[in-house]
Amino acid sequence: MSAHIASGGPVALVRSSARLRGELRLPGDKSISHRALILAALADGESRIAGAGDGADVRSTAGIVAALGATVERLPRDGRTVDYRVVSPGADGLREPGTTLDCGNSGTTLRLMSGVLAGLPLTATLDGDDSLRRRPVARIIEPLRSMGAALQARRNDSLPPLTVIGRTPLRAIDYTTPVPSAQVKSAILLAGLRAEGQTTVRESVATRDHTERMLRARGVPVERRDSPDGSVSWTVQGGVAVHAIAERVPGDVSAAAFWLVAGAIHPDAELVLRDVGLNPTRRAVIDILSSMGADIEVRLLADRPDDGIGEPLADLVVRSSRLRAVELGPGEVAAAIDEIPVLCLAATAATGTTVIRGAGELRHKESDRIAGTAAGLRALGARIDVDGDDLRIDGGSPLRGDVTDSLDDHRLAMTFAIAGLIAAGETAIGRPASAGISYPGFFDDLERVRA
Ligand code: S3P
Repeated sequence: MSAHIASGGPVALVRSSARLRGELRLPGDKSISHRALILAALADGESRIAGAGDGADVRSTAGIVAALGATVERLPRDGRTVDYRVVSPGADGLREPGTTLDCGNSGTTLRLMSGVLAGLPLTATLDGDDSLRRRPVARIIEPLRSMGAALQARRNDSLPPLTVIGRTPLRAIDYTTPVPSAQVKSAILLAGLRAEGQTTVRESVATRDHTERMLRARGVPVERRDSPDGSVSWTVQGGVAVHAIAERVPGDVSAAAFWLVAGAIHPDAELVLRDVGLNPTRRAVIDILSSMGADIEVRLLADRPDDGIGEPLADLVVRSSRLRAVELGPGEVAAAIDEIPVLCLAATAATGTTVIRGAGELRHKESDRIAGTAAGLRALGARIDVDGDDLRIDGGSPLRGDVTDSLDDHRLAMTFAIAGLIAAGETAIGRPASAGISYPGFFDDLERVRA
């Protein structure tokens, strides 16, 4: 095959590259884009969202916001990023959808919308693709039921489709999340907006706090309390109106992670990543790679105009590095949950054995990411042992191109494509189109940085 990359079909072929150079702008942050659309639906009036990610997941959320009766105008910009203008009648004016709400591949849409629907006086069913239908919903059903909503799901209330019969007002709860999950926390806080009194969510490890920041930016007080043991609690007051605002979404650090690893493990690389969101609860991937010896320069953009939500912004520069193995525990896994597959790729290029403990939540993502990451990287010659929820990766055996399968999981497709830039010869990635779930234009960027 003569092209460096062929990504149109059911298989993408990526050849190793002699150099990596370039400057990239990532799609708008997926987590923030979902929340901006959902909060726009809850706010009475016109909200503006600049630079939202245009991946399929965010479009699923936009479709649901429209199905609930808000006017959603989508203004595409560059194929990966989009502006939205949302005009909503506010939470009390949303209408019962005529059809099932299609979340596509998006767990965030499913979990966060469950929290919204729980507090509305209507009935709605959330469903999605085959992958979404394998993702756990009991973690949402239990707290939302205790707030007074009725919920029902397939297989003894464990799997989607999920029907929510909402109730207004809900009962406020004080809830400790059994697994670290920003989706569960956010669903409960969103339901808490429609509850009488104060709703508190306690988490043993701090997960991403975009919902909390974005509620505050819309006039809803959210109180944070930190305990000496590292646990965090968040309290929201029910009955406070969410204001419509204009905001700008920063570039997605989880998308940047692929290039950070590419730049660090490639022998001749310098990549510049512009306008990346550097929320403290999202930057673990940068800190972990830096602790492995990655040459990553963080240029904070303090002088940028306010984005409306108080998310720190930075340009990142990554250069070829010599990496060392690292040991990661459950706290680090939770903090870098979406970046663990590509960090496993980084570990294959590090000196020593990387150990990742307590990664069980990865089995409940768009695919079983422990099994999928291990299978794909092993196919390229990596030495990885899986023991329950722990991974051990022996660095230092050079990768060679072969056939990998993304399992239709965007983060695996991109991890194996990045591996293809380093692996000798040609790497095939099965089902590469899944990259468009979070990163439309990923394969175009791959072509651009090959210099
Ligand atoms: C997300 C939370 C995480 C993450 C997902 C996005 C969010 O999921 O994996 O990609 O936007 O809240 P969990 O809450 O299930 O860990």
